[in-house]
Amino acid sequence: MRVGVPREIKVQEYRVGLTPGAVREYVAAGHQVMVETGAGNGIGASDDVYRRAGATISDSARDVFASSDMIVKVKEPQKSEWLQLRESQILFTYLHLAPDPEQAKGLLASGCTAIAYETVTDAAGRLPLLAPMSEVAGRLAIEAAGAALRRSAGGRGLLLGGVPGVQPARLVVLGGGVVGMQAARMAAGLGAEVTVIDRSLPRLRELDDLFAGRVRTRFSTIEAVEDEVFAADVVIGAVLVPGASAPKLVTRAMLKSMRRGAVLVDVAIDQGGCFETSHPTTHTDPTYEVDGVVHYCVANMPGAVPVTSSQALNNATLPFGLMLANKGFAAVLENPHLRNGLNAHRGRITNRAVAESLGLEFAPVGGLAA
Ligand SMILES: NC(=O)c1ccc[n+]([C@@H]2O[C@H](COP(=O)([O-])OP(=O)(O)OC[C@H]3O[C@@H](n4cnc5c(N)ncnc54)[C@H](O)[C@@H]3O)[C@@H](O)[C@H]2O)c1
Repeated sequence: MRVGVPREIKVQEYRVGLTPGAVREYVAAGHQVMVETGAGNGIGASDDVYRRAGATISDSARDVFASSDMIVKVKEPQKSEWLQLRESQILFTYLHLAPDPEQAKGLLASGCTAIAYETVTDAAGRLPLLAPMSEVAGRLAIEAAGAALRRSAGGRGLLLGGVPGVQPARLVVLGGGVVGMQAARMAAGLGAEVTVIDRSLPRLRELDDLFAGRVRTRFSTIEAVEDEVFAADVVIGAVLVPGASAPKLVTRAMLKSMRRGAVLVDVAIDQGGCFETSHPTTHTDPTYEVDGVVHYCVANMPGAVPVTSSQALNNATLPFGLMLANKGFAAVLENPHLRNGLNAHRGRITNRAVAESLGLEFAPVGGLAA
């Protein structure tokens, strides 16, 4: 198959659909890979590195779209990109179609076969192509918290781990899923005093076993959240209710009872945020203050570390991408997890949840779609 990797054109996006290492895997499996010049700049991979990995380099996105059977990207296609897609072409990328009717219309008009990373599943019903970015964001949340806690940044002037003879910072993680566990792990590793709050008892049991006493766990009630948040130096917001906006676990009124210079890191901001006072920020201006509490609410945290993020993403997408390259659309029909990833095919929406969100008709592929 001819596989194309255009340069990402969304503002502040530095990741790349295929790393040079992934290109080698496609080439070793007998496929041709065409990469747009400069596509790897954000991760420090030059055109020559891609050439050595076996790719051909094209001067224009137009060539890449025109001559590829499958396009592998990171972010949802922008208008100039979806206008170049065509029927029988496979698009494999993050789409987030539900809140984006304009993109949905563009993809449907193109007739392409669009597989969204965020709806591909695994045998346990999880979302394996979302998890790596949650891992990155969870770990990064602690670095962000450490920086925001500094006096010069408006924080309390605390070192997360303290030093011998001085107590460490108190850190609360709301939501002990993928983001929450990675955040707890990093914070505990630095020596902070960590509590994870979740509303799933089985998950709290797992975390309790895993951290073997190094991290405290609490069941999520209004009282538990208040107790912990009022005594915290840092609160990491990492809750997710699939398909819904994040619940507002910390209200504006609660800020008044928090420590001055405490830090809120709202990783769940991409789902609306779990603090009432959160609004999305960017890497160039990541924090703001409300009632003396520092807020960090960057909506695309993994974008800060495109080298790590691109590799983590490629590790997860590679097996699915190779299946698609080896078998074409037949891979979607054979593999139920890829089929869950299929969002649009020949002008129809093929994922039930996406169709419902967009108010469009759901068209199961060959009667097989989940
Ligand atoms: N800002 C970013 O750049 C970025 C990057 C990656 C992920 N995210 C977001 O981070 C959030 C968490 O993602 P995840 O992969 O860890 O999800 P996850 O499903 O693995 O974990 C979410 C956890 O929240 C818990 N939860 C739900 N409601 C709760 C409540 N009321 N009280 C306490 N716990 C509750 C669930 O039981 C679950 O354990 C999502 O909104 C995701 O989109 C943001």
